[in-house]
Amino acid sequence: MTYSAIGIDRISMYTPAYFLDIRQLAVARGVDPDKFTIGIGQDQQAVIPGSQDVVTMGATAALRMLDDIDPDRLGLVILGTESGVDASKAGALYIHDLLGLPHSVRCMEIKEACFGGTAGLMTARDYVAAHPDKQALVIAADVARYGLGSGGEVTQGGGAVAMLVSSNPRILELDDDTCVYSGSIQDFWRPVYTDEALARGKYSTEQYLEFFEHVWLDYAARTGRSASEFAAFLYHLPYTKMGAKGLKRLFEITEVCDEARSLLEERFNKSIQYSRRVGNVYTGSLYLGLISLLELDDTLQADDELVLFSYGSGAVGELFTGRLVEGYRAALYSEEHAAILDNRRQVSVEEYERIFNNVAPYSPQDYVADEKYFCGSFVLEGVEGQERKYKRIG
Ligand code: HMG
Repeated sequence: MTYSAIGIDRISMYTPAYFLDIRQLAVARGVDPDKFTIGIGQDQQAVIPGSQDVVTMGATAALRMLDDIDPDRLGLVILGTESGVDASKAGALYIHDLLGLPHSVRCMEIKEACFGGTAGLMTARDYVAAHPDKQALVIAADVARYGLGSGGEVTQGGGAVAMLVSSNPRILELDDDTCVYSGSIQDFWRPVYTDEALARGKYSTEQYLEFFEHVWLDYAARTGRSASEFAAFLYHLPYTKMGAKGLKRLFEITEVCDEARSLLEERFNKSIQYSRRVGNVYTGSLYLGLISLLELDDTLQADDELVLFSYGSGAVGELFTGRLVEGYRAALYSEEHAAILDNRRQVSVEEYERIFNNVAPYSPQDYVADEKYFCGSFVLEGVEGQERKYKRIG
C-alpha cells in the first residue's frame, strides 16, 4: 500500500445554530467595524450554547457519514481537541457511544492546540498504511473562547469537522512528504482551571508565520518543488486575515509567477468563506478551509495538488500535500453544509453575552443546559453529580 492511495474518504462539518454579526460586536466594543471585517477578516462568529461541546458537535458532524462506516473495518476513533470535557476520559468515547460504534475500536483524544486534528489525521493515515483494509474516524472539534471584551474575542467561534480516512479515498489522497517544525513557545495556552484561552496576540501571529516559513522552505528544499505547481494553499485559519498573511509570506519567500499567484489568491479566497462565517474552530479550522474550498470552487480538477499548513500554538507546524481524486465532488456534503450555515439564527450582542455566560462551570456544581438553545443531533443536557449527561435529539 502506498501512502498516496490513503486519505480523506468523506469530510463533514457542524457548527451550532446561532451566530453573531461581527460588525455589531465591534460597535458594542467601541471598535471601528472595518477593523474586524477587513483588519481581522471576519463577518460572523458562531455562538456556542451550553448544550453544545466538542462531544455533541463532533458526534453531529460524524453522524452524517455513519452509512459509510463499516463496523468490521473501523479500527480507530480519534478526537483532536483542546476543549476536552474531561482531563482523563477521552471525548472520543462519548462520541463512540452516541454514534453506537462497534466496541472493537481504539478510542483516544489528542491534544496539541490547533494541531490536534492534524495529529489525528496523520495517525489515521499511518494506521491505514499498516492495515489497508481498515477505516479510521478523525474528529477535530473545538470551542474557541477568549472572554467577553478580551483582545481575542473577535477571533472566537466553534464547531467540528469529521473525516473518514481509508485506502482508495473518494476525496483527497494524502502524500507522505510532510514537513514538521516543533518548539516550546508561549504564544497561546489555557491553564486547566479555566475554559478561556490566554494569548500573546502579536507574538502568536509572528510565530505562526515563522513556523510556516520553516516548513515551506524545508519542503521546497527536500522535494525541489515550487509553489506554482500546486492548485491551492490552505492555511490554519484562527481568523482569515492570518491565512492571508501566510499566503503573503509565501509570495515573499518563494518565486511565483503572476498567473499562478492570482489563481492561488482566488482559491485562497474560496477557502476562507466558511471561516468568515464561523470563526476559529481551533483544530478544525484548517479542515473547515478545505471543505470551503472544495465546496465553493468549480475550477479544481482531479489530480490537482493542494498544500495544507497546520499550526497549533505551543507550537507545532506541519505542512503536507494531497491530491484530489476523480469524482471527489460527489463525496462532499455541499448542500447539507450550506443549509447548516444559512439556517442559523442571528443573536444580538446581549443575547450572545447571556449564552456565553451560561455554560457548564469549571467547578463541581450541577448544571442544566437551557433547552431553548438545543440544536444539532446531540446535546449535553447537563452535568449531574460531576457526570455529563448527553442525549440524541435529532
Ligand atoms: P489586535 O491588537 O486587536 O489587532 O489583535 P491589531 O491592532 O493588530 O489589528 C489587526 C489588524 O487590523 C491590523 O492589520 C490593523 O492594521 C487592522 P495587520 O497589521 O495585521 O495587517 N486594522 C484595521 N483595518 C481596517 N480598518 C480599521 C482598522 N484598524 C485596525 N479601522 C489579534 C488581533 C488577532 C492578535 C487578537 O485578536 C488575538 O490575540 N487573537 C487570538 C490569538 C490569535 O488568533 N493568534 C493567531 C496566531 S496563533 C494561532 O493561529 C493558534 C490559535 O488558533 C490557537 C491554537 O493553536 O490552539 C490561536
